[in-house]
Amino acid sequence: MRVKTLEWRDGTLYLLDQRKLPAVVETVACRTVEEVARAIETMVVRGAPAIGAAAAFGVALGARAGLKDDVQRAVTEACQRLGQTRPTAVNLFWALRRMQARASELACRPPSEVAAALEAEAEAIYREDIAQNRRIGEFGAALVPPRAGLLTHCNAGALATVDYGTALAVVRVAREQGKEVHVYADETRPFLQGARLTAWELLEDGIPVTLITDNMAAYAMAKGLVNLVVVGADRVAANGDVANKIGTYGVAILAREHGIPFYVAAPWSTVDLSIPDGAAIPIEERSPEEVTHVFGQRVAPEGVAVLNPAFDVTPHSYIAGIITEHGVLRPPFDRALAEVGRRE
Ligand code: MRU
Repeated sequence: MRVKTLEWRDGTLYLLDQRKLPAVVETVACRTVEEVARAIETMVVRGAPAIGAAAAFGVALGARAGLKDDVQRAVTEACQRLGQTRPTAVNLFWALRRMQARASELACRPPSEVAAALEAEAEAIYREDIAQNRRIGEFGAALVPPRAGLLTHCNAGALATVDYGTALAVVRVAREQGKEVHVYADETRPFLQGARLTAWELLEDGIPVTLITDNMAAYAMAKGLVNLVVVGADRVAANGDVANKIGTYGVAILAREHGIPFYVAAPWSTVDLSIPDGAAIPIEERSPEEVTHVFGQRVAPEGVAVLNPAFDVTPHSYIAGIITEHGVLRPPFDRALAEVGRRE
């Protein structure tokens, strides 16, 4: 059985430490809001849906800690702290809003009831994520030809979600349907989610995968190895622009140039209809050391200026479809997204 990305047991959140993979498979136990917040900031847990689920359990921990004092205040403070961890993936704010709303609904109830309800709410987010990913996989698998080379960027797999993944759910379901899918995984500099995480989880599942460095994607496409690209998302704006791991935009341009369809797979919790377009999506800037150093070893000269945006925005015009649990949305995305938004 696959190791779990996150697990809630006896009032403790256990997170698979993704900083150490693939060399070491180890979990980190979080018992306080601060421990969950630090785990998100330091990338113990990462990937938009996984961050959202972890934060929900963080709020449940905060509520329990507030039982002797003021549970409602404890929930608000937990949401504030967790909301400061990472700015781009909207699933985090979606989960915090949902937890805060549940607490507010129960404002007149005894504190122990509020804490129990918040634990149940976090568990619902956890379960729903798995079911949504399965549906994303089913809708997405229909787009995969019987023999496919599928290129993906970063890790939008089981490790980025509660289980199953989004982009990699498409691969998993297509293979269950008997399709021959070979994954090309971009290594994804600077944090190497592709090399360390995507390659690891696919090998664990016995799914054929070839690792390439980011600058080999054009070569692989030109050689005819890639039939489709499927990536995850951290935030989808109302017009269909998509923020995802840095380098995604370049892959989309390459796919366009080679006539290869470029798909985004994401649950509805990644859609942010309050943001008109990609220009308004906050992009996290991470430490320069991620660029100047490789595994603690300096590879760039002291004092060099560094740019380290963790995400970029792919304009909607490059996207063939957005695969959600509600189906595959097609251009014009503003209309398709608004229509699902009205039903939700
Ligand atoms: O910085 P990370 O590792 O949290 O970034 C992750 C990504 O960009 C993923 O592609 C995205 O969150 C989708 S995960 C299903």
